[in-house]
Amino acid sequence: MEVVICRDEEEIGRLGADVVSRLVRTRPEAVLGVATGSSPRPVYAELVARVRAGELDLSGVSTFSLDEYVGLPEGHPASYRTEIRRELTDPAGIPPERVHSPQGSAGDLPAAARAYEKRIAAAGGVDVQLLGIGSDGHIAFNEPGSSLASRTRIKTLTRRTREDNARFFDGDTDAVPTHCLTQGLATIMQARHVVLVATGEGKARAVAQLVEGAVSARWPATVLQWHPHVSVLLDEAAAAGL
Ligand code: GLP
Repeated sequence: MEVVICRDEEEIGRLGADVVSRLVRTRPEAVLGVATGSSPRPVYAELVARVRAGELDLSGVSTFSLDEYVGLPEGHPASYRTEIRRELTDPAGIPPERVHSPQGSAGDLPAAARAYEKRIAAAGGVDVQLLGIGSDGHIAFNEPGSSLASRTRIKTLTRRTREDNARFFDGDTDAVPTHCLTQGLATIMQARHVVLVATGEGKARAVAQLVEGAVSARWPATVLQWHPHVSVLLDEAAAAGL
C-alpha cells in the first residue's frame, strides 16, 4: 500500500487523474471502477478538465459503479447513477451505454446483484478502482461487519451512514434510503489497482485503521491491506491519525 499525503485537493485530483490517464493511453478501452461521494470529485474534475483540453480521450472507457440505493426512481437526483453521470461520465464523453451501475430499482434485487457481478466479469474486470472511505471505515456500502469474502448484494445502511449522506437529500436523514445494492469486499479486491481518496478530519480515524489497524470486518477498508496494488491519496487532515 502506498500512502501519499498531498498539499490539497488539487494535488489529489492531479495524482488520481494521472493514474487514469496513464492507463487509458495504453488501453483506450479500459474499465474504470468509480465511486460516488465527495472524496473522488477532485479526480473527476481533473479528468473532465483534461478531456475538455483535448489532452485525454475517455470515450472508449467503460465504468462500473460500486453501489446504488434501493428504491430510488430512475433519474432521481441523489441516485448514484445520476451522480456519476453528472460528475464524470457525461462531461467526460463516456457513452451512457458503457456506464454500468447496480440496478437498485429492480424488482428482483438478488438477481440484479448476480447480474452485476457477471457484467463486471464479462468486461474483463476493473483496471483501476477509485474509492472513498466512510467515517466508520466502510468502502462502497460495505458497512462494519461485512464479510471480507462478500460479493455484490443487498445491504442495510447504518444510521450513521444515512446521517453522513443526508446532505445529498436536503439534510433529511429519513429521506435517505435504508437499503442499497453494493459490490462486496471480494468484488472490490479483484480490481487490478485501487486508488482510495480521503480528505478531512472526519476520515482520520478510518484512515488510521485502514493503514495501521488489524484486518477486520469491524473496519471493512482494512481488507485492502491484502491487495497487491493500493494507492491512498490523503490530505493532511485525513492523515492526522497516522
Ligand atoms: C458513501 C458511498 C461510499 C463513499 C462514502 C464516503 O457511503 N457509498 O462509496 O466512499 O459515502 O463519502 P464521501 O466521500 O462523500 O465522504
